[in-house]
Amino acid sequence: MALDPYRLPTTVTPAHYELAIAPDLKTCRFEGTTAITVTVHQPVREIVLNAVELDLHSAVLTDASGSHQEATITLDEDLERATLTFPAALATGEGHLTITSTGTINDRLRGFYRSTFIDGDGVERVIATTQFESTDARRAFPCWDEPEHKATFRVSLLVPTGLLGLSNTSAVEERPTEGGTWVEFDTTMKMSTYLVAFVVGPLVTTDPVDVDGVPLRVACVPGRERLSAFALEIGAHALRFLADYFAIPYPSDKLDLVALPDFAFGAMENLGCVTFRETALLVDPDHAARIELERVADVVAHEIAHMWFGDLVTMKWWNGIWLNEAFATFMELTTVHAFRPEWERWVSFSTERAVAMVTDGLASTRPIEYEVVSPDDAEGMFDVLTYQKGGAVLRMLETYLGAAHFRDGIRLYLDRHRYGNTETTDLWDAIEDACGEPVRAIMDSWIFQGGHPVVSVSSSERGVVLKQQRFRYTPDPADADQLWQIPALLRRVSGQHGRVLLSGTSTTVGLSGEGPAVVNAGGWGVYRTRYASALFADLLAHLDDLDALERFNLLSDTWAEVLAGQVGVDGFLDLVMLLGRERDPSVWEVALDGLGACYRALPDPSGLSEWVRELIRPVFDSLGWVPAPDEPDSVARLRGLLAQALGTIAEDDKVQVQARALHAEGTAPPDLLAAVVTIIAWTGDTEDYDMFWSKIRGATTPQDEVRYLFRLPTFPSADLLLRTLDASLDGIRAQNGAFIIASSLGHRSAGPTAWGWLTQHWDDTLLRLPDNSRGRMLEGIVRLTSPEMVETVTSFLETHPLANARKQVAQLTERQRVNAAFVARHAGALAARF
Ligand code: BES
Ligand code: ZN
Repeated sequence: MALDPYRLPTTVTPAHYELAIAPDLKTCRFEGTTAITVTVHQPVREIVLNAVELDLHSAVLTDASGSHQEATITLDEDLERATLTFPAALATGEGHLTITSTGTINDRLRGFYRSTFIDGDGVERVIATTQFESTDARRAFPCWDEPEHKATFRVSLLVPTGLLGLSNTSAVEERPTEGGTWVEFDTTMKMSTYLVAFVVGPLVTTDPVDVDGVPLRVACVPGRERLSAFALEIGAHALRFLADYFAIPYPSDKLDLVALPDFAFGAMENLGCVTFRETALLVDPDHAARIELERVADVVAHEIAHMWFGDLVTMKWWNGIWLNEAFATFMELTTVHAFRPEWERWVSFSTERAVAMVTDGLASTRPIEYEVVSPDDAEGMFDVLTYQKGGAVLRMLETYLGAAHFRDGIRLYLDRHRYGNTETTDLWDAIEDACGEPVRAIMDSWIFQGGHPVVSVSSSERGVVLKQQRFRYTPDPADADQLWQIPALLRRVSGQHGRVLLSGTSTTVGLSGEGPAVVNAGGWGVYRTRYASALFADLLAHLDDLDALERFNLLSDTWAEVLAGQVGVDGFLDLVMLLGRERDPSVWEVALDGLGACYRALPDPSGLSEWVRELIRPVFDSLGWVPAPDEPDSVARLRGLLAQALGTIAEDDKVQVQARALHAEGTAPPDLLAAVVTIIAWTGDTEDYDMFWSKIRGATTPQDEVRYLFRLPTFPSADLLLRTLDASLDGIRAQNGAFIIASSLGHRSAGPTAWGWLTQHWDDTLLRLPDNSRGRMLEGIVRLTSPEMVETVTSFLETHPLANARKQVAQLTERQRVNAAFVARHAGALAARF
């Protein structure tokens, strides 16, 4: 095998790190001493470990006999490594390596970085904090920065007087020194470097809540503690629920949930010291919309699930990231479902799965798991195929095997591998051992090939005939041989349920009972279903007998067939017309998604607006503007969704007027507020725009801020859009820039203007926004569907490649082409109908 330049030699390996970090928040510099207990396996003269953007000043190795050797140090910036060369061969056995270093507390939201905020006195304050996944621990201290090199860590921080220091474990010792205190934290369990965290800054914590012996706290900037109760509630629930589900106690001694004003992701699962962006942790439950609470519950549950799955048991290498994230997503939903069953969180996950299936229907999709060599390859794995498709595939497996079998397999896996590292197949083997089904063979077919199948359904005298082939937006004859092992669930609308593993091209299943057959019963299969037309018609006559998710799939699959050119757009619109009795918000969401695409395809959408108005008005009126005290949770979400559609693409002036009235009076219920704000932006002028900015600046919760901020790109004027884009480089936190740019590119009329702005500010944008947000920033290009824009965007991105988002860029440009083909194919039919 060729030598992989990204893997460290294993002649010397770490067992324990003692880290002493002294940050200076004024100069944004830090000093570090890293003392590592190592095992020397061979008498080499060199030690190679990771380090980048650090100045290493000295490296001394003391061997078991007590003799010292000082190394000469060379750095390779490209490979992010330091080579320590010693005068003589090292004695094998245990050794102690001590390295001193200095570095900058950077503003790039990775490694050891700074986050800032303005305090109550109007003074800018600095927090120094870490974000290491995937490969950025090496920016804070020299280390074997690969997940398989697990070790224990003992962190000490020099905390300036009056500030707070946090790390993975509880503080065990404090030694006052000039200007501050050395705070020493307890030794961690054996874990990977990417899970180490330390934070120093003007933060406060809530009093600990005792969760069966685990102290749970929230840390945040002063004044925001009042927004922590909900996070503590879901946090305590998740700790208990997951310890029980996994049948293993929480693997550390305390848990802090830390809200940071600047954070590249949603949250990060550092053992015992989980870091979050503020919107994902701090919320006022009395004034928040259900989806805003759901977001906090999701993220908290997701990260706490990682404490076991990821932190206690860790992937051997970065090709395993998908399983880490897919499983945390699966557990997030399972945990939140148990927390608030009335939220029906699994049903709403279908809209997220649908987003992944859009990407997965492209030629440029990827297998869920692939070989990872460089850090850029690893970064490319954090996408919808990992989280949403991966999570959905696990859910499909769970529903096929039964929840108890699946859980038993997970327990076996965690128990077998605690404190260790695994390959994906170790999980399949454990589940297989727990239930005796061919789990590994099934899952390999979903993990190692890209795409997903469409199952065609017809009937014969022997039963229901199923046939599989790959689903694609742009059919390709090369797909003919591609097969999946499809764990299919079937039922008659009134009658027998069936279960079959479709592993060949076709099979026939006998099903007794009345009414049409439902394939993908329950709706959890990650595939499309294509019914023969008589069967489809029969099913539509039984819509009321279908589950929400089954109805969701009918719409979602039909829309996919429209985009693929297999069904005319009328086929979709006729289906949407049957939704008069539909009250599930996710089903409406998929319908409105398709309608939005039709809206954007029309040069003059006014006829469509009227049609949508007539369709939705009666449904909305049946809900009313004012929530009933005992209405189901889903009604509040549906109300917001329909109000927003009426006030925007349906151009319902009554709703637009009412939205402004509610906003002016301050009487919009929380679940309507997002819709109200969106409608005002949709119809807004410069005065409204300035009002938005004052709302952003005066916001007292993170949700209030982003509710206005993320709607700035919705204002109709191109001039205001340019003002918003300029603010994304100066005035809007870097962590939010990508969302703003993406929405601007997708603007209903001025998307090309936004594209022009982006190409002119390309370098500045890349410098300012977090590296991981480049794919996200470009998401809006899928709406630039004129032939000229397809050409312009593609050629620009070919000459301006993004190394860490190559795959995402290929997928986004392909989606842009698929959407452009839809417009070219259907704009005429749409214009004729409306
Ligand atoms: N481990 C990730 C955070 C992460 C993402 C680190 C990408 C490095 C690269 C964390 O567990 C995570 O998945 N966070 C999500 C939120 C979650 C609820 C889906 C995120 O940050 O978006
Ligand atoms: Zn995660």
